[in-house]
Amino acid sequence: MSKRISRNLWNIILTVVAICGNICLPAPAFSQSDIDIEFRGKDQIVNSLSLRDLANATPAISLKIFEIHEKKERIYKAYPARTLFDKAFGKEWGKAEEIVFISMDGYQASIPVTKFLSHDAYFAFAHDDDSPFTMTNLLQNNEVVPLGPLYLIWDNMKSKVLLEDGASDMPYQVKSIELATFATRFPNLSPPAKASAEAQHGFLHFRKYCMACHTINGEGGGKAPELNYPTSVTEYIKPEYLTRWIENPSSIRLNTLMPGLAQEIPDRANVTKEIIAYLKAMSTTKRSPKRQDIH
Ligand code: HEC
Repeated sequence: MSKRISRNLWNIILTVVAICGNICLPAPAFSQSDIDIEFRGKDQIVNSLSLRDLANATPAISLKIFEIHEKKERIYKAYPARTLFDKAFGKEWGKAEEIVFISMDGYQASIPVTKFLSHDAYFAFAHDDDSPFTMTNLLQNNEVVPLGPLYLIWDNMKSKVLLEDGASDMPYQVKSIELATFATRFPNLSPPAKASAEAQHGFLHFRKYCMACHTINGEGGGKAPELNYPTSVTEYIKPEYLTRWIENPSSIRLNTLMPGLAQEIPDRANVTKEIIAYLKAMSTTKRSPKRQDIH
């Protein structure tokens, strides 16, 4: 082999090694304990705590739950939510109306405070067996998703009500926790006052099952497409297909990341109908999204 060829060969090898170093190697592991979780009151950050701070402030427990995303039992290491709220917000948090959880992937769950007062929630920060803090999300086309820094779980083994709630109140990748009043925080999500009772019921279902991922008039989660502005899904999707999108999305789009409305939800067909009535009502009140709520 001539000198020139061997030099070229060597350059190629170096280039391949360099590219591979960028692409093939896993990104340098960042330490979850360095991420700060923001606690927000009205318009301001009231506290900012790292996982290390949380570990120092609250004793952890091991909790077995029925993992709705995986449809099997799982044990997590976790902190009791009410204790953590007491530490981060002070006791006043119990007087708020909603708690909004903002996740790194754009998910934005808004959960009534009453649910935290009547059921036991926990913030998981690790699997009990210390395996990587990820999960294979059956509801999201088996995507492997990181769960940290915090993952909101419920002591659901003995609670039919919690199991029926499905996965919508179980945000993972939680990085910010905010006390809020729904109507102030999401002023453009409510149906017009003259909307039918069916649409008003649908609004409550939409809050519970859809808005963590989707926006209406720019308000809600940033994980999935806007459904109302500038064109409502009720205007371009035929009614029977809209029902299928909600109940069985993969019967429309293969490998879609949208989970269908949970089978466990009581009176599911009626819930779907009411959600569609809400979406129709919203198509008469379009507002240009400001998107200031999407962090
Ligand atoms: C976990 C997140 C998540 C939840 C919860 C969710 N969706 Fe979706 N949805 C998605 C994603 C992601 C897409 C885009 C899917 C695709 O294109 O494959 C989508 C797509 C849609 C579409 C099709 C929009 C279009 O123009 O193609 C409709 C309609 C829809 N969702 C309605 C709903 C309704 C109503 C609910 C509540 C019952 C809901 N979604 C709950 C994630 C979600």
